[in-house]
Amino acid sequence: MSGNTFGVLFRLTTFGESHGKALGAVIDGCPPNLDLAEADIQEEVDRRRPGGHAASTSRKEEDRVEILSGVFEGKTTGTPIALLIVNRDADSGAYDDLRDVFRPGHGDYTYIKKYGIRDHRGGGRASGRETAARVAAGAIARKLLSREGIDVVGYTVEVGGIAVERFSRDDINGNRLCCPDHEAATRMEHKLEEARNEGDSLGGIVEVRVAGCPAGLGEPVFDKIDADLARALMSIGTVKGVEIGDGFRAARIKGSESNDPIDPAGFLSNHAGGVLAGITTGQEIVIRAACKPIASIALEQQTIDVQGNPRRIAVRGRHDACVIPRIIPVCEAMVCLVLADHLLRQKACK
Ligand SMILES: Cc1cc2nc3c(=O)[nH]c(=O)nc-3n(C[C@H](O)[C@H](O)[C@H](O)COP(=O)(O)O)c2cc1C
Repeated sequence: MSGNTFGVLFRLTTFGESHGKALGAVIDGCPPNLDLAEADIQEEVDRRRPGGHAASTSRKEEDRVEILSGVFEGKTTGTPIALLIVNRDADSGAYDDLRDVFRPGHGDYTYIKKYGIRDHRGGGRASGRETAARVAAGAIARKLLSREGIDVVGYTVEVGGIAVERFSRDDINGNRLCCPDHEAATRMEHKLEEARNEGDSLGGIVEVRVAGCPAGLGEPVFDKIDADLARALMSIGTVKGVEIGDGFRAARIKGSESNDPIDPAGFLSNHAGGVLAGITTGQEIVIRAACKPIASIALEQQTIDVQGNPRRIAVRGRHDACVIPRIIPVCEAMVCLVLADHLLRQKACK
């Protein structure tokens, strides 16, 4: 029934709602003797936190992470690591209008259909805020990966139909959208500002690259690494499509264009995105997540209430105009969690 636990050996359970007392994560299976401080986790969580950005919600959460267990004298002990993030800036009153009405595009309708009860405050468990716990857990997975020389980086490649035209790694940290094309980022910002002023929202695409991943990770046939990566990214709210390597483009090209020739020194190209037959090739893993526009918009729309009566709705409250850039650390975290799990599985089977 429940779907709040993820992973096989590096296992994450998250809990909490947007306007409940706290959010948190329990990580079971993290190896002992990994250096771990609250500051390591905080750094990642701060990247996801709502800020003063044109695309960002005005909710100002401090998002302070506390390690409750599983760490002794700065090292993991091999026992469950519990992480807690207390909710401090919840303005639940802004959601009173949504108690009995379904927002188009959000989980309000489906949560009622499934559970028959719904915490409407801030979107409850369907809120983007739930992902703070994933990012906290992902920071631990990332530490494990760093020890093996594996680096995971995410960035924006498209917002509102404006796509990057070039890639400069230096640009990624030089603009608020974390976009590797500074000029494209400026145009994206303008389009976002326009959408926000109209009371509307925009979607976008995030790309994540993994460097230094060894060949051999992935467990065919059902736990192929590409299957697990796709599942991990699709479990994030707003993600509606996942591509690996050439992705959907592969359906439109020839075999001779899609194959990656191999010579004694290695692969000569990377159309596969670092995965063949569900197993990593040792090349860079390249994966993209397509995110829909934020559902909660100020523009008036047609909907119904819990009794099925027609209603009009214009959503108040604190909402992002675009899930980018805040979703980038979430995508990275999910990729880190999958890789940490598969790294441990590969070590266990050797
Ligand atoms: C980091 C993050 C922030 C989000 N912020 C909002 C928001 O402010 N307002 C909103 O309506 N949806 C927001 N969402 C999206 C909803 O969580 C998501 O649309 C909802 O759960 C429905 O799921 P679906 O879009 O996958 O169908 C956010 C998602 C993420 C990952």
